[in-house]
Amino acid sequence: MTDLPSACVIGAGSSGIAAAKALHERGIPFDCFEKGDRVGGNWVFKNKNGVSSAYRSLHINTSRERMEYADFPMPASYPDFPRHDQIARYFNDYVEHFGLRERIEFETGVQHVGRREDGVWEVTLERGETRLYDALLVANGHHWDPRWPEPPLEGSFDGELIHSHHYRDPSQLEGKRVVVIGMGNSAMDIAVDSSYHAAATTLIARSGVHVVPKYILGKPLDSAVRPTRIPFPWLLGGMQVVLRLTVGPMERYGLPNPEHRLGRAHPTVSTRILDRLAHGEIEVKRGIERLEGGEVLYTDGTRAPVDLIVCCTGYKISFPFFDERFFAAPENRLHLYKRVFVPAHPGMYLIGFVQPWGAIMPIAELQGRLVGDHLLGEYALPSPGEMQRDIDRMLRRQERRYLASKRHTLQVDFANYAVELEDERRAGTQRAQERGFAPAVAAVLD
Ligand SMILES: Cc1cc2nc3c(=O)[nH]c(=O)nc-3n(C[C@H](O)[C@H](O)[C@H](O)COP(=O)(O)OP(=O)(O)OC[C@H]3O[C@@H](n4cnc5c(N)ncnc54)[C@H](O)[C@@H]3O)c2cc1C
Ligand SMILES: NC(=O)c1ccc[n+]([C@@H]2O[C@H](COP(=O)([O-])OP(=O)(O)OC[C@H]3O[C@@H](n4cnc5c(N)ncnc54)[C@H](OP(=O)(O)O)[C@@H]3O)[C@@H](O)[C@H]2O)c1
Repeated sequence: MTDLPSACVIGAGSSGIAAAKALHERGIPFDCFEKGDRVGGNWVFKNKNGVSSAYRSLHINTSRERMEYADFPMPASYPDFPRHDQIARYFNDYVEHFGLRERIEFETGVQHVGRREDGVWEVTLERGETRLYDALLVANGHHWDPRWPEPPLEGSFDGELIHSHHYRDPSQLEGKRVVVIGMGNSAMDIAVDSSYHAAATTLIARSGVHVVPKYILGKPLDSAVRPTRIPFPWLLGGMQVVLRLTVGPMERYGLPNPEHRLGRAHPTVSTRILDRLAHGEIEVKRGIERLEGGEVLYTDGTRAPVDLIVCCTGYKISFPFFDERFFAAPENRLHLYKRVFVPAHPGMYLIGFVQPWGAIMPIAELQGRLVGDHLLGEYALPSPGEMQRDIDRMLRRQERRYLASKRHTLQVDFANYAVELEDERRAGTQRAQERGFAPAVAAVLD
């Protein structure tokens, strides 16, 4: 028995386990439910949860030193950009090391979450049981629900049409004439795989992007991305100059030149795509006009027979366990205070719902600590009005900082956001002190 609020954590991916650790070390009673049979979420290749987007050739594109949790370094034997299985093992070692495994209920999906009038969370598991909690931490990930081309591709297609979420293995590409749609990181990886295994590879580049190699001046590209108050775009100026001198204009590789400055879009990181383009192993087109049986008609008027189209067109943010009217992310938009707190639903927190220039894991760790302190009564939120004003400011900043796109609604600059969270923790501690450390979330349940 404790007078601390009880909490439910949905998901034991890299965000859920970071949050679970924060609760565990603060003595906050909690259950963590995980659909799959192990931790690691997206990083578990062929995860039994059925929703991992990992493919055989997947390596991280944020370097290991930037991706690791602050208090649990990745093994020094790991390369700078480890493969998915090494990353999954790292998350497994993390829960082992901090004694979290027995706190997680595996193969236990959350079916539905509702809220009683007294504020208690009713969590119904897929196996039918309902459990009650004072607080709810949502860490179900945001890269698992495919966003297909919008509007849908016109015409009818006799070949195979998949989303990158369904790509697992180069054998799916072997000997085929493949079209890869998109210029994000999924498209780069899959186009490169295709260029080695398919009979022909065409990349659809609707928008120009700055393709950034994994190393710049001999160092992982994100080695300079450390928490700082210096606005991150200022730091990107130097990178832009180096890229201009080393990589050069995108049109040299047959790609459209981007119409935006470096940093206005989520980074597309790939060293190998440029090489495969330079070798003529990948053809570039700007768009698909329509599908005609076994052929694709491109917007430049040319046509070609195609066996497989891979839509690397991004992901939707989805919460299938909430009634849509209760909580949803229409057009991928979330209105959260500091990207964590849901002003409309006190006692509910989102962990890992950011897309950084940098890695998600250290951010999930900071978010988890903030929520842990909040549940202890050691961090207090500002008034609802102040939260709303902060959210409005954040949204305006976001509009100025990033290209308007469903891709960028969760975008943050890791370097600045990490400092913002630490500042917020200090400010919230001060507020809590002024309020006599009153509990932020009532422990209604025994
Ligand atoms: C191909 C790919 C490569 C990426 N590479 C990088 C990278 O290099 N660096 C980086 O920082 N980010 C990368 N990302 C972003 C990715 O989102 C993060 O790496 C990371 O997976 C986020 O962890 P998460 O815990 O938030 O989500 P997930 O890894 O998706 O984990 C969510 C967990 O919640 C569980 N879950 C979901 N719903 C329920 C439910 N109803 N009940 C119970 N459990 C549930 C799932 O089973 C899963 O285990 C990549 C994404 C993709 C798609
Ligand atoms: N190796 C890695 O570590 C790795 C690998 C894969 C993914 N990831 C991560 O996973 C997340 C998702 O990446 P993602 O690449 O799957 O998705 P994404 O970043 O959202 O990129 C989607 C791409 O599809 C394009 N697109 C969308 N609709 C289109 C249409 N109808 N026609 C043509 N193009 C269209 C977008 O172009 P517009 O800009 O024009 O909309 C964009 O280039 C990111 O965080 C990414 O960093 C990491």
